[in-house]
Amino acid sequence: MTSNTAEKGTVLVTGASRGLGRALAGLYAAAGCRVIACMRQGGDVPLDVADPASIAALGERLEGEPIDIVINNAAVRGDTGGLESLETDDFLEVMRINALAPLLLARALRPNLRAGGRKVLVNISSRAGSLAEGTLDDEDGDYAYRCSKAALNMATVKLAQDFRRDGIAVISLHPGWVRTDMGGEEAAVDVAESAAGLKALIDATTLAESGSFRAYDGRTVAW
Ligand SMILES: NC(=O)c1ccc[n+]([C@@H]2O[C@H](COP(=O)([O-])OP(=O)(O)OC[C@H]3O[C@@H](n4cnc5c(N)ncnc54)[C@H](OP(=O)(O)O)[C@@H]3O)[C@@H](O)[C@H]2O)c1
Repeated sequence: MTSNTAEKGTVLVTGASRGLGRALAGLYAAAGCRVIACMRQGGDVPLDVADPASIAALGERLEGEPIDIVINNAAVRGDTGGLESLETDDFLEVMRINALAPLLLARALRPNLRAGGRKVLVNISSRAGSLAEGTLDDEDGDYAYRCSKAALNMATVKLAQDFRRDGIAVISLHPGWVRTDMGGEEAAVDVAESAAGLKALIDATTLAESGSFRAYDGRTVAW
């Protein structure tokens, strides 16, 4: 690491192999940050967020390293069919990856964030998990995904309360409906536009914003 990248800070991104995670990792690298791009295969650091042992191993591997920003981005959609096609294993897998893993990551990397300069933990959530707004635009089934992101939003609120004593801000962000593998080709927002909006919000985050839920375009999303 050069002294320049050290000054710009260290950013850890989960699910950096493609989609928004890759775009965010690229933006922070282009901005001169040291990026720890976590992926199931390849990447700087191996991480399967579905596996608590893999998360614990990441914490051990990074022990003693200050990290400025942690971005919990990795997620899966699961079955989208609705109540009739809901299956226990699929639901639990989506909850494990989208809701539990960010909490385990937060716990594992809390010392790193405490040692970092910026002290920001980002949960990439979704408006689909908003109790107030999640069902306004579409009637997709998506039980597992919506429930997982609603749970993630509570994790944000709870972690914001918990981490405040360490000076760590915790936020939920909605990236918009983005043209990625998850969002599909019909999605409204280009991945570069979404990632740029998310980065601007992350970079402006202080403890005053902790516990908030914003969209990539700056709009506040109702919980
Ligand atoms: N796209 C949208 O319209 C949209 C809307 C609202 C919210 N979001 C949220 O935005 C974030 C990024 O979504 P995206 O559209 O970029 O999705 P994507 O293109 O499907 O990419 C998902 C990423 O998560 C990783 N991932 C999945 N399971 C993992 C695991 N067990 N361990 C480690 N990594 C894992 C994938 O890695 P592999 O390559 O190894 O599979 C991939 O890098 C997610 O949190 C998503 O819920 C997206």
